[in-house]
Amino acid sequence: MKKIKILFVCLGNICRSPMAEFTMKDMVRGREAAFEIASAGTESYNIGRPVNPPAARELSRHGIGCAGFAARQLRREDFQHYDLLIGMDGENIRDMERLGGRDGRKKIRRMMDFTARPGDVDDPWYTGDYATAWRDIEEGCRGLLAWLDSGTLTER
Ligand code: 4NP
Repeated sequence: MKKIKILFVCLGNICRSPMAEFTMKDMVRGREAAFEIASAGTESYNIGRPVNPPAARELSRHGIGCAGFAARQLRREDFQHYDLLIGMDGENIRDMERLGGRDGRKKIRRMMDFTARPGDVDDPWYTGDYATAWRDIEEGCRGLLAWLDSGTLTER
C-alpha cells in the first residue's frame, strides 16, 4: 500500500500546523501505516521550538499529545516528497505557491476547503483563541480524511 504523505503548513510551525499534525495523527490511529503526517512553517522564526504552550494545552484538552515536536521551516524539497501540502490561511498559500514551482503548486490545498465553511484558520498567535483554531483544524482534518477515504486522490 502506498502511503499518503501530508504536510500541514502555517507561518510559525508552533501553533496551527502542529495542532493539525497531531490532531490528524490522532484521527488515523490504528492506520498509521497508510499515512505520513508532518508539519512545517513558511518562516524560520521558531526552528527547533516545541509546540507553543497554549496550543499544546488545547491539544491536551482533547486528549492529544505533542511531545518531542521540533518546529522546522518549509523547504522546496517538501513539494517533491509530500502528496499534499495543506496551508492554514491565504498568506500560507501564497508563500507556498512562491516556493513550490509549477508542479509543487498542484499539491497545495487550504485546510478549511475540506469543510462546508471555506476560509482561513485564524492565527491564534495573534487572536489568542486557541479553542477556535483547534475546532477549525479538527473540522478540516475530518473533511480531509473523508475526502482521502473517498479515494479522490489515489486509488488504494
Ligand atoms: P502559527 O502561529 O503560524 O500558527 O504557528 C505563529 C507562531 C509564531 C509566530 C507567528 C505565527 N511568530 O511570529 O513567531
